[in-house]
Amino acid sequence: MQHWVFGYGSLIWRVDFPHHERRRADVRGWARRFWQGSHDHRGTPDAPGRVVTLVEDTDAVCVGAAYRVDEAVFEHLDHREKNGYERVPVTMRLSATNGAHPGDDTVSGVTYIAPPGNPAFLGPADIDVMVAQIARSHGPSGSNRDYIFQLAVALNDLGAEDRHVEALVERLR
Ligand code: SIN
Repeated sequence: MQHWVFGYGSLIWRVDFPHHERRRADVRGWARRFWQGSHDHRGTPDAPGRVVTLVEDTDAVCVGAAYRVDEAVFEHLDHREKNGYERVPVTMRLSATNGAHPGDDTVSGVTYIAPPGNPAFLGPADIDVMVAQIARSHGPSGSNRDYIFQLAVALNDLGAEDRHVEALVERLR
C-alpha cells in the first residue's frame, strides 16, 4: 500500500528515503514553528537545538513537499522522527507541477507533528532567545544553523514564504 507523507522541515531537503513521487504541497490550518527541541539531531540531551513542528492556526497555510511512499518507509521515518513527533492525518493540496501554484489535487496522508506537551517540546520564546539557541546548537546530524539555512533554501526553491523562518534567518545572518 502507498501513502502520501507531507514534509515541512528536514523532510523537504534531507530526503534519505525512497519515494515514487514528490510534489510541492500545502496544508491548511497549520503553521511551521521552531518550537520543538532536538536532542538527537541538532542538539544533545544537555543542550537541545530548536527544530520545526506544526502548530494549529486556523488562518495559516504551510507549504512543504509531499512524497508518495510505500508503507515500509514508515519504519525508517518513525525512527528518524522519534523525538516527540507523531504521525498525524492531514489533507494536503498538491501543486499541479512543482510550480508555486497549488492545483486541485487534494489527497489524504500523514505528517509528523511534535505536539505541545511532548517531552522535547519547547514552545514559543523571544526571537533573540530562539536565535541564540539555534546559533550555538550542534548534534549528530550537524549544526542547528545548517538545519535552518537548508530549510530556508528549500522553501525558497518551493517559492514558499514563511515569515517565522525568514525572521530567524535574518537575525542569524
Ligand atoms: C518534517 O520535516 O516534516 C518534520 C520535522 C523535521 O524533521 O524537521
